Parts: sequence; structure tokens; C-alpha cells
Amino acid sequence: MTIFVTGGAGYIGSHTCVELLQNGHNVVVYDNLSNSSVEALKRVETITGKLITFIIGDIRDESSLTQAMQGCDAVIHFAGLKAVGESVAKPLEYYDNNVQGTLCLLRSMQTNSIKTLVFSSSATVYGDPESLPLREDHPLRTTNPYGQTKLVIEDILRDLYRSDNTWQIMILRYFNPVGAHESGLIGEDPQDIPNNLMPFIAQVAIGRRENLNIFGENYPTHDGTGVRDYIHVVDLAHGHLKALEALTSPQCTAINLGTGIGYSVLDVVNAFSKASQQSIPYIIAPRREGDIAACYADPSKANTAIGWSAKRNLDQMCHDAWNFQSKNPTGYK
Ligand code: NAD
Ligand code: WQD
Repeated sequence: MTIFVTGGAGYIGSHTCVELLQNGHNVVVYDNLSNSSVEALKRVETITGKLITFIIGDIRDESSLTQAMQGCDAVIHFAGLKAVGESVAKPLEYYDNNVQGTLCLLRSMQTNSIKTLVFSSSATVYGDPESLPLREDHPLRTTNPYGQTKLVIEDILRDLYRSDNTWQIMILRYFNPVGAHESGLIGEDPQDIPNNLMPFIAQVAIGRRENLNIFGENYPTHDGTGVRDYIHVVDLAHGHLKALEALTSPQCTAINLGTGIGYSVLDVVNAFSKASQQSIPYIIAPRREGDIAACYADPSKANTAIGWSAKRNLDQMCHDAWNFQSKNPTGYK
């Protein structure tokens, strides 16, 4: 199949392109490079020995998008802005890019009679959990504009399917993607100060930042620091392949992609320190606004619905994140 991948130059998109190419699919990447580099795609070609068709474009440019996806069989939609704090400061930008962009994408798909879609949602749609582990039928609500864009898009997809039940839609709710490809060629390359824990730790380990701020030590968790379900990006990428392969009949299905295991900030610091053989100096800082104590998935639906489960553990995640960071101390630059 030929897969149209929006946001394919980004962190999760580039790893998914590797999976697609290695499993015999052709890939057309459509990305405006607002948070990524074309170097990532060159490296995907190096890893796989296959070529990617790359089109620079914005998903809100509907005519360019409609033309670019001609001849494709399915779409994986990664393109979007993803920084929670920035979304609070720039809500209009986030709604425009993520929601308006997705509306353009769905119309372009209709124009091209492409009705198979895998969409990047997030565990953020569960808000502050009422119960753990999080199942897909947990109530949906969010606490910030970024999360709201994901929830609105999920609702749009459910409404679209209700209006035309020939669509084949998989909504993937990622937990906390981390790590990098085992080659050390592609990985996470934050353009600014990292918002997320693992890339921040990696930059402390390489000496780009002095110390980590641990946001809160008095949560009701096993050591007082926040607990999350970290998932290796290669496992996540594989989940997209499995989702696509499972989309052989009309549906609109939401699935968690997580490991089901919660690790605390201190667990991650210790595992990263062991994997990198570097010390990770940290300071205990106040809680970060909007953070929750703990969040981890019940990943069983992914197993039954698409035959997927995560294979890589926290040590592997830290090892591969460090491998990428140490081979690329300044990212793709
Ligand atoms: P990323 O920023 O690395 O990748 C997103 C890509 O989309 C980038 O290459 C960017 O240039 C592109 N893009 C953004 N707006 C665009 C537009 N208007 N037109 C064309 N291209 C555009 O982020 P990522 O971590 O790879 O995330 C991919 C998707 O997964 C996003 O939708 C994100 O919200 C979602 N997600 C990410 C996480 C995470 O922690 N990384 C967790 C849950 C969900
Ligand atoms: C993990 C833990 C922090 C940084 C976010 C988004 C979510 C999703 C994934 C897109 C928390 C602590 C962090 C630091 C710290 N993205 N931390 N010091 O907040 O679970 O999820 O990314 O969909 O929507 O909200 O991930 O990596 O930022 O934080 O102590 O410098 O690490 O408090 O407990 P989070 P994170």
C-alpha cells in the first residue's frame, strides 16, 4: 500500500516511516517542517535502504494536500502542535493548526475517496484519571487547549463515521513516547528547552543542561514523584503498522498504546543514569501546573483489537534515548 503520512518528518512519524518501509509499504510524507528536519527523512532512507516521497506543505493548505495524496491508499495523521504549555499561551494557533488542519485533511481524503485513517491521539484525553489503569471507556475530558484539540478531533472522527459508516478509522491514544531507533540515527530532537522528562534528562546527561527539575515530590505515588506509562517509540511505531493492517473493515475504534506499567520520575532518572553511566543531578522543584499524580494504560484492547503489545522495557528506552543523544549531541543540526 502507499501510505500518506502527515507529520512524517517528526519524532513518532519518522520511526513509523521506518516500520512502514521495512514492511513493504510505500510512503508519501507531507510535513511543513515546523518542528522537524528533512535530515530525519534522509536517515530513515539510510536505515531502510528505501526512498520516501517528501512534499513540504501545510495540512491547512487544502488544495496542495488534496493533490499530494492522490493515488495513496491510507493516511496516518501525525501532523500537529503538541506542547501543552504553549497551547495555553497560544490557543488559537493550536485550534487552527490541529483542528482546522484535520478538517482540511478529512475533506481532502473525501475528495480522493481515501477512507482509511490512523490518527495520533493522546492519553491526555482522559484528564485526571478517576481510576487506574486507564481503559478506553474511561470518561473523556481535558484540562488544556492541546488536549482539547485531540478530544475535538476524536469527536469529529466519531461524527464522521456516524454520518458515513464506510470509513475505517483507528484512534491511537499514546501514553508517554520515549527512546529512539536502535541505530541511533533517528530520535527525539526538541527544537527548544525540552518540555518532556526523557529528552530533558538526556540533555542533562550530555552536559547541555546543568540539572533536572523534578516537579513535585509529594504525590501519592510509591516515591512521591509523578508516575507515567513510558512507551518505546519503536513499539509505538509498530502499533501504527498493526493498526493499519487491522483496518480491513469499517469502524471508528479508539485504542490505548501503552505498556501498562507506571514508572516514577525517580525510576526514570535512575534507569537513565544506569544506561548512560552518567550522573543526573536534580533539584526538587514545585509541582508543574496541570500535572497529574499518575497515569498508565490498560493496554489489553490493543492486544485483542490489533494484535499489538509493547516489547521494550524502561532500560531499553533509556539505552536507546542515550544512544541517540550521545551520537547526536546537538540533535539533527
Ligand atoms: P513532532 O512535533 O515531532 O511531529 C509532528 C510533525 O508534524 C512535525 O514534523 C511538524 O513539522 C509537523 N506539523 C505540525 N503542524 C503541521 C502542519 N500544519 N502541516 C504539516 N505538518 C505539520 O511530534 P511527535 O511527538 O512526533 O507527535 C506526533 C503526533 O503524536 C502529534 O499529533 C502529537 O500531538 C501526538 N502525540 C505525541 C505525544 C508525544 O509525547 N510525543 C503523545 C501523544 C500524542
Ligand atoms: C512526565 C513526568 C512531570 C519534565 C505530556 C503531555 C501529554 C503527552 C505526553 C502529547 C511528570 C515530570 C517532566 C521535567 C519533571 N503529549 N517532569 N521534570 O506531562 O505526562 O505528558 O507529554 O500528547 O499530553 O501532557 O509528560 O514528560 O512532560 O512529564 O519532573 O523537566 O515527569 O511532572 O510527572 P506528561 P512529561
